[in-house]
Amino acid sequence: MSVLNVDYAKEIQRLKKEKKAVILAHNYQISQIQDIADFVGDSLKLSKMAAETNASIIVFCGVHFMAETASIISPEKKVLIPDLDAGCSLASSINPEELMEWKRQNPKAVVVSYVNTSAEIKALSDYCCTSSNAAKIVQSIPKEQPILFLPDMFLGAYVAEVTKRTNIKIWPGECHVHAGIRAEDINAMLKSYKNAEFLVHPECSCTSSTLYHISKGDINRDTKILSTEGMMKEARISHNSQFIVATETGMLYRMKVENPEKEFIPIKNDAVCKYMKKITVEKVYNSLVSESYEVKVPKGIAEKARVPIQRMLNIA
Ligand code: 13P
Ligand code: SF4
Repeated sequence: MSVLNVDYAKEIQRLKKEKKAVILAHNYQISQIQDIADFVGDSLKLSKMAAETNASIIVFCGVHFMAETASIISPEKKVLIPDLDAGCSLASSINPEELMEWKRQNPKAVVVSYVNTSAEIKALSDYCCTSSNAAKIVQSIPKEQPILFLPDMFLGAYVAEVTKRTNIKIWPGECHVHAGIRAEDINAMLKSYKNAEFLVHPECSCTSSTLYHISKGDINRDTKILSTEGMMKEARISHNSQFIVATETGMLYRMKVENPEKEFIPIKNDAVCKYMKKITVEKVYNSLVSESYEVKVPKGIAEKARVPIQRMLNIA
């Protein structure tokens, strides 16, 4: 069969059965990938799926740190990423030398790392967290214990605010997509859509000002700061019919499919993660055929990195 004539969706289903493979996809993946995936979700849900599945191969349609996390949790499974260039600007904002130096300067602190980090960073951390459980993880740590939180400064500031802790030092990293969602964008959209519920991802640079305005009573409408899966749940259970969604635009596809009677408006049409969009159906097919590209974490690093991930999965 020539490559031009391949019915990718059909072939992917056949290969999945033949190879006992499962396709996990993040909420920011393109619609065609979400349609062929066995599970679509946020970082936490996908980590749990990776731990629970009894498939022999996991094709991870997301970015590299997510596939690495799956491989750390399930070293006996073959974890594939269809494009090795699917990186993450936030995960790249800290390297192991920088973290070791930060730890040297703060010897009494414990390290809480957002899951958007490399395996080496996780191996140097005490706890992992995702955007859906970051506050819960920090709350589980004794109040007097100093914390180094990394790498996202907006999520860190949000967590410090909701947990009312002052002994958290925050790494100044950011995601280029969410940092670009600013207070001005919010103000303009809130004026244009007077009845819409407002959903914000905590990585957005507007998160702190949104929290501030909520506390001042300047935002007089339903506003929720949520992970991508938290947004999905809120879209389902809320009585509102219109939502402004402040995160990567891939999110809106599943929201619309699962709630056809409701309206979802992106805060910015150009809030697009170029790394998430690297994965295509053709690349997933090639990945299954040639079982590439395998993401494997060296044993010594994986053993250390598993500790903070497992702590997180035990807490939340
Ligand atoms: P979620 O865990 O909320 O899906 O976020 C992952 C991510 O990369 C956000 O940019
Ligand atoms: Fe990383 Fe930002 Fe893309 Fe999420 S949206 S994967 S944090 S670059």
